[in-house]
Amino acid sequence: MYEKDTIQLYNTLKEISHKKIGPWQHSALENWKKEYFFKELNEVNIANFRRHPISKGTLNFPDIPIQKDSLHFYNISTIQRVKGLKLILWMLYKLNHCYKFKLPDLSDNLIGNPICYKIWNICITEFSMRMYYYKERIKQFFVNTKLSHILEIGGGFGGLCNSLMSDNKLSIKTYVLIDLPENLILSYYYLKNLGYNIKFILSEENIIDVVNRKLDKNERVIIFLSPWMFSGLDILDIKFELFINIMSFQHMTMDNIIYYFDTIRKLEIPFLYLVNRDLNRYPIYDNYTITWKEKWLFSQNPSLGHLECLLRKNE
Ligand SMILES: C[S@@+](CC[C@H](N)C(=O)[O-])C[C@H]1O[C@@H](n2cnc3c(N)ncnc32)[C@H](O)[C@@H]1O
Repeated sequence: MYEKDTIQLYNTLKEISHKKIGPWQHSALENWKKEYFFKELNEVNIANFRRHPISKGTLNFPDIPIQKDSLHFYNISTIQRVKGLKLILWMLYKLNHCYKFKLPDLSDNLIGNPICYKIWNICITEFSMRMYYYKERIKQFFVNTKLSHILEIGGGFGGLCNSLMSDNKLSIKTYVLIDLPENLILSYYYLKNLGYNIKFILSEENIIDVVNRKLDKNERVIIFLSPWMFSGLDILDIKFELFINIMSFQHMTMDNIIYYFDTIRKLEIPFLYLVNRDLNRYPIYDNYTITWKEKWLFSQNPSLGHLECLLRKNE
């Protein structure tokens, strides 16, 4: 469902984004998306986006097929399937050292037609394990602190947003998601199919609309904010408790990071959860102190230096 709406949203975003040149621009590494989506976005590819290169960069092996056009699991070679299973089992082992879980806690949904590994008939993916891990980590940080409003930049296709919004031990009310136009499209398809209430702020008119209509007190909502509207976020007057960025700042230019951090500072968000390479490159340390830091749990190549950390705003 929602394939047509997703294409329509893409056309709108594409048109507006052309007029909004600024520091939020695609980095060299993300530039391919602009041409590629224009050529490849159609109803079949959206419905199968988790096996199609339109989701490249947001999924890791073995979730993304190595061969081109592998829309069917059995087009994937035995070697690839065995290697994939080995990785899934290694991740299960790592996860088991951190959290007590039952296999159904790790199960993925079928939106975007993912490549699943069935373990006791439960569909498990590299993606579903990562999302489970981040969610549990965040829950652990907020066990004694209220968590209702979250801001995330670079959410891929909305996986962590879904994990946190759907956890019944949390009661997230507002989740604001900022991403490049192409990833907002994938997030829209994924989260809309999961039944979420989504509002858009893609232009100045939308922001006024959302402010004027005031959100119903009990309304749970995901707000899609285009990157060029980011500095307008303070108008919404949302008191975020947490900002999240996972494997996304590391792809951005310094201009882009500064553009985002200028607003993050103004919003006075008490906690930042970051998982990235080169964390000390970011202009955050005057205002925040690292309260927890570890090597990323699923790091297979320590020389890449992926770190996870929680930062707390200085008094
Ligand atoms: C490697 S993916 C990580 C996705 C997800 N956080 C995860 O861990 O699976 C990088 C994400 O950062 C986003 N991103 C890259 N440059 C961006 C920019 N300038 N503004 C907003 N998002 C950006 C990408 O579109 C993508 O969603």
